[in-house]
Amino acid sequence: MAGSSFGRLFRISTWGESHGEGLGVVIDGCPAGIPLTEEDIAPYMERRRPNGGAFSTARNEADRVRILSGVFEGRTTGTPISLMLLNTDQRSRDYSNIMDIYRPGHADFGYDAKYGFRDYRGGGRSSARETSARVAAGAVAIKLLGMLGIEVSAACTKIGDVDFSDREAAEAYIADLRARQDSVGSTVVCTAKGVPAGLGEPVFDKLDALLAKAIFSIGAVKGLDIGDGAAAALSTGSSNNDPFRMADNRVMAATNHAGGILGGISTGADICMTVYFKPTPSIARPQETVDRFGNETTVEIRGRHDPVVGPRAAVVVECMTGLVLADALLANMTARADRIIDFYR
Ligand SMILES: Cc1cc2nc3c(=O)[nH]c(=O)nc-3n(C[C@H](O)[C@H](O)[C@H](O)COP(=O)(O)O)c2cc1C
Repeated sequence: MAGSSFGRLFRISTWGESHGEGLGVVIDGCPAGIPLTEEDIAPYMERRRPNGGAFSTARNEADRVRILSGVFEGRTTGTPISLMLLNTDQRSRDYSNIMDIYRPGHADFGYDAKYGFRDYRGGGRSSARETSARVAAGAVAIKLLGMLGIEVSAACTKIGDVDFSDREAAEAYIADLRARQDSVGSTVVCTAKGVPAGLGEPVFDKLDALLAKAIFSIGAVKGLDIGDGAAAALSTGSSNNDPFRMADNRVMAATNHAGGILGGISTGADICMTVYFKPTPSIARPQETVDRFGNETTVEIRGRHDPVVGPRAAVVVECMTGLVLADALLANMTARADRIIDFYR
């Protein structure tokens, strides 16, 4: 399947299905000399992992990532880094009732229309299980960014219209949804601090274009604001423009409606994004659909599904952002002759 690779210089290729033996990622282009152990990756995997808590499915994926190559004596060697994890909690029988049926809101119909054949167990490549491989790769990218003082963080802020920081209200809301066999949309906010000015390339590889591609490659994403985003369409130039000032001998924006990017190039201000997720498509209540033979029918989706995507997806947003920034940092090193000359002289 084409489309499984991402990035130009810090380039990842993910592989594996939800209910296959395992999944993984190969990172090519990671610079040598970054201290890296499996323990650096584990906390990111833990945040993505379903844990049977109030906001996630009861699936229990151990998500222990193994480093198979590209690291020697605790440091990256500059050679391809292979990261792998095994699938240990598959229940393919959970999916037998949907093998011929198109789940409304899911990728089943699209895959059949495109390939005429699909791995129906857990959605195959369309499953959120695939995001575990990008999270593992993103953890490595974020390690590199950390060495440069760049911090990326993302968190779920809303479940439907309920503030996620009010855990009691959010839990009560999800419990009620589960009882009604329904799911809900969610919002994730992501910030990157300490990003130097100058990342992003005119014109097709603008930093905002690369971020948009990365974020929209995550399942269930339906919208993205960079800075004020869609609200800027209701604004005026005099209030939307961020005035420039000098601070610490540097050009700084006094406000940040732009979200840290102008002309596709980072300004040095925080990069701010708001990501909008649709409700989880797999819901247990009966829904109208069609099977692959063209018969209209109804489906009740069994299996273990997240009632809301945002709480588990926040780390996926963070890691995809880390991958884009690591790649943009490397790409930016070729931008200026004076720096290339300094480097080689
Ligand atoms: C972290 C995460 C968890 C998800 N969990 C589920 C789930 O349990 N059940 C489900 O049907 N979809 C889940 N999704 C959403 C589907 O992957 C997604 O809706 C599907 O692939 C169709 O793609 P689209 O919504 O981008 O069109 C999840 C997505 C993410 C990012």
